[in-house]
Amino acid sequence: MTKPLLIKDGRIIDPGQKIDEVGSLLVAEGKISWLGKGKAGPPQADCDVLNAQGLIVCPGFIDLHCHLRQPGYEDKETIASGTRAAARGGFTTVCCMPNTNPPLDNQTTVEYVKSRAASEGVVRVLPIGCISKGRKGEELAEMGDLAASGVIAFSDDGKPALNSYIMRQALDYSRAFDLVIIDHCEDTALTEGGQMNEGIISTRLGLRGMPNAAEDIIVARDLALAQLTGGRLHIAHTSTEGAVELIRRAKEKGIKVTAEATPHHLTLTEERLIGYDTNAKVYPPLRTERDVQALIQGIKDNTIDIIATDHAPHTEADKLCEFAFAPFGISGFETALASLMGLVHNEQLTLSTLIAKLTGKPAKIIGDKQGRLGTLAVGAPADVTIFDPSLEWTVDTKDFASKGRNTPLSGEKLKGRVMATLYQGKLVYKDDSIKVKER
Ligand code: DOR
Repeated sequence: MTKPLLIKDGRIIDPGQKIDEVGSLLVAEGKISWLGKGKAGPPQADCDVLNAQGLIVCPGFIDLHCHLRQPGYEDKETIASGTRAAARGGFTTVCCMPNTNPPLDNQTTVEYVKSRAASEGVVRVLPIGCISKGRKGEELAEMGDLAASGVIAFSDDGKPALNSYIMRQALDYSRAFDLVIIDHCEDTALTEGGQMNEGIISTRLGLRGMPNAAEDIIVARDLALAQLTGGRLHIAHTSTEGAVELIRRAKEKGIKVTAEATPHHLTLTEERLIGYDTNAKVYPPLRTERDVQALIQGIKDNTIDIIATDHAPHTEADKLCEFAFAPFGISGFETALASLMGLVHNEQLTLSTLIAKLTGKPAKIIGDKQGRLGTLAVGAPADVTIFDPSLEWTVDTKDFASKGRNTPLSGEKLKGRVMATLYQGKLVYKDDSIKVKER
């Protein structure tokens, strides 16, 4: 039995409980067992101590959208490497997309992911099941079976469900399980052959563009279907000003919709493509400053509920090729917090908003079937992230735990760094500078 751990004198931020003050946290038997504000110490005398002075202590981050690639693409990522990368990024719960090979469209594949996660994962892995069989968009997957095997949502991510009738049925049936449909919004007739955002830069670079309208059209359609069915819709990787506005209006009408934005869409623009860096090739594409500002406004006014990484690891060989042949995706776990902290440092977001979008808000979308997530409430699982808000570091992909080193941020100086991550009371990541001592 490991000793209780006292996380001492950190700035505890738990937006769900409206806590933002210096204090200490005691973790015992995998749960939060005590939280004290100010200098008060816990009643428990025998424990180890982690000095968190000058650091932020918050609920472990929850990522509603990532790709762990197993089964089928173990050269890009595995559950073992992906969950270690998640822990380094401060994530204690990751929801993995079903675009594996075979896809997670039946109980057997979902059980496989769950068992690998139990034996090899270092953080909580919650699988997402397919909307359609084989992600082909033609026939609904056995949603009831998938729900029974414990998926936390349905999605054909990487592809849209283009058939409106299939989408209608998915939204209809998902109500029975109270699970959300995560929507990859892309009208492929408008994006076929597309490499980047459509605009003056794509023209100059000679790369085929993908217009904002390709996203907006499917967002508009699926909001109408959510209204028709009463099903819960979640818009994945929102990237356009138009989509933000559509979601805002839908929420005003009472349509059951939530939305996410990724760290890269919140912090980078299409200008990153100017050097033909395939590591900046992602779907949806990096857009314009105007779209970025609309997303940030959406985050602030709660049109965009959460931030999710869309961690999409690929091998170096995948990306070291002619631009048109490179797959879409950015490896995101290990730079997410630091890149988002840029928005806090330049006063576009508050620390509390940022943490809420990574903790309590995604927990709410998942629901409480998985236990109390995204909170430091006494009795909740001790999933805790500890970070230094102002430590500067340079992104060196050689240090990544992820097999995917495909980030456009390589070599970049960022400010803010995860120092330790606890999953169910266990230290699953710790920076070398953090020492745990006996009390
Ligand atoms: O860039 C992306 N990569 N966007 C997606 O929607 C899918 C993902 C992947 O699986 O690589």
